[in-house]
Amino acid sequence: MKSMNIGVLHPGAMGVTIAQTLKDSGHRVGWVAAGRSEQTKQRARELQTFNSLDDIAGWADALISICPPHGALALAERIHATGFTGLYIDANALAPATALKIANTVGIGAYVDGGVIGPPALQPGTTRLYLSGHHAAAVADWFSAGALQAIALPMSHDGGAGHVAASMLKMSYAAYSKGASALLLSVNALAAAGGVTTALHQEWAISAPDLLKRSQRTAQMTSGKAWRFVGEMLEISETYSDMGLPDAFHAGAAATYERMGDLKDLPPQELEAVIAALLQAPAD
Ligand SMILES: NC(=O)c1ccc[n+]([C@@H]2O[C@H](COP(=O)([O-])OP(=O)(O)OC[C@H]3O[C@@H](n4cnc5c(N)ncnc54)[C@H](OP(=O)(O)O)[C@@H]3O)[C@@H](O)[C@H]2O)c1
Repeated sequence: MKSMNIGVLHPGAMGVTIAQTLKDSGHRVGWVAAGRSEQTKQRARELQTFNSLDDIAGWADALISICPPHGALALAERIHATGFTGLYIDANALAPATALKIANTVGIGAYVDGGVIGPPALQPGTTRLYLSGHHAAAVADWFSAGALQAIALPMSHDGGAGHVAASMLKMSYAAYSKGASALLLSVNALAAAGGVTTALHQEWAISAPDLLKRSQRTAQMTSGKAWRFVGEMLEISETYSDMGLPDAFHAGAAATYERMGDLKDLPPQELEAVIAALLQAPAD
């Protein structure tokens, strides 16, 4: 297999594990330092540093976008402005309609759609990068070693999501995983607002014994990342709407996660702290 120059924009918790898998598979991996926080700089210290998007665009055979969903379209527009001519893989949690906008921005022939399912890939067997589009199988082959597994979805010819099937799959998966987390946390806030927390937890102990533990675990696992889930929930809501399905559930999940936004960068929070955040109405 040919060794390639691949840029990862940007090496966040997930992106740095994508970068490591590409390095383990024999590729050279670069990143762009401009505008990035100290945390990203620390994570990227084993990667080749570029000062600007223009610089990396001149070096890379391919670029992988892995950033908060709300920044994905703007990043693609900035890459297009550099005159980049290689393959552009967007691996963010995006509605198929947003993924298509990005495909049209970078050029449909250069676009590969992606969606990641699982936690940052620190060990094999945990995390899959799904890919779709004409170059999906070729891109999957770049991940020949390392922890992250890449899977090319077959192109469907039955009017399905086709080119952006990876985004459709990610939306469907996260609609349940992150949607259910938002529901469980908001149920706890509702009971607290109505003064029936103890009674609810006593009833759960009888009829749904895992729900209190799940609530506590969910609070810890989502508190620091909820700010990023807002955009993802809005993308899922848009996907429901585009498919002719009721979209309010995930719009509500976005509003729930928005109230947790101030917990970003704090250590994992207990359920009580998350409930307190949810009970604070946002200022107008
Ligand atoms: N983490 C997971 O468990 C997980 C699982 C599945 C899929 N994903 C997907 O992976 C993507 C990134 O997640 P992550 O966990 O790596 O996030 P993260 O740890 O928060 O890292 C995000 C990276 O993007 C940069 N960034 C921040 N705001 C940006 C913007 N507006 N435009 C462009 N870049 C920006 C950050 O730089 P600074 O450091 O300067 O802020 C950081 O390097 C998301 O699309 C997410 O849906 C993540």
